[in-house]
Amino acid sequence: MDAFEVMRARHSVRSFLDRPLDPEAVAVLRAEIDACNRESGLHMQLITDEPEAFQAGKPSYGQFRGCRNYLMLVGPKGKDLEAGYYGERVVLKAQELGINSCWVALTYRKDKAQGEEGPGEKRYLVIALGYGATNGVPHKGKSITDVSDYREGDPDWYRRGLEAAILAPTAVNQQKFRFERDGDRVTLKVAGLGFYTKLDLGIVQYHFELGSGRRIVHS
Ligand SMILES: Cc1cc2nc3c(=O)[nH]c(=O)nc-3n(C[C@H](O)[C@H](O)[C@H](O)COP(=O)(O)O)c2cc1C
Repeated sequence: MDAFEVMRARHSVRSFLDRPLDPEAVAVLRAEIDACNRESGLHMQLITDEPEAFQAGKPSYGQFRGCRNYLMLVGPKGKDLEAGYYGERVVLKAQELGINSCWVALTYRKDKAQGEEGPGEKRYLVIALGYGATNGVPHKGKSITDVSDYREGDPDWYRRGLEAAILAPTAVNQQKFRFERDGDRVTLKVAGLGFYTKLDLGIVQYHFELGSGRRIVHS
């Protein structure tokens, strides 16, 4: 699977099969999480076979059903952008391994969820993980011209980056971001009010970089 296939295959999944994660997939995922933590200074933790955070033993919890695995996204305060960027890197690695996911800021049992926080760290949110009852459906959303200054004739790498960006998950599918390009330099900003917009920005940045092969440098 190439990166675009993985990004196109990823959709939020909230209903999971009663099947433990494959141990080999868990080993690959843990290695990716460790690499992300080393690079970013985050303290992301994979929690497996834990039914409480989503009340997996009950018929459903909100929109969730049967979720027993999740990534607890912990890190130093003020790292929203990194939390989004590296969390999505784990999400897409999971997708590559056939594991479905859903970012979850609100609809989980915060009092029950497991995970450790060191001094000066906080819990950002969790990412539900497992084998989905379905693979989910594509979100309806904005076009590349809605979220950028893209015009016909712009470089191919810019178009590919934007196409990847609009596939990214954002809180309540708000897609409140805007790209602008000046030659080779691309800027990415929050556009409008919303919740978790800075964290969304990190997720979107990861997609753009994967699709375009270029890095975004924040000034
Ligand atoms: C930061 C963030 C927080 C989210 N919080 C929740 C949540 O609390 N509950 C939920 O069911 N979905 C949550 N989502 C999932 C979004 O609703 C979903 O990503 C969006 O509708 C786009 O759909 P897609 O992921 O299928 O592309 C969240 C997504 C993000 C990025």
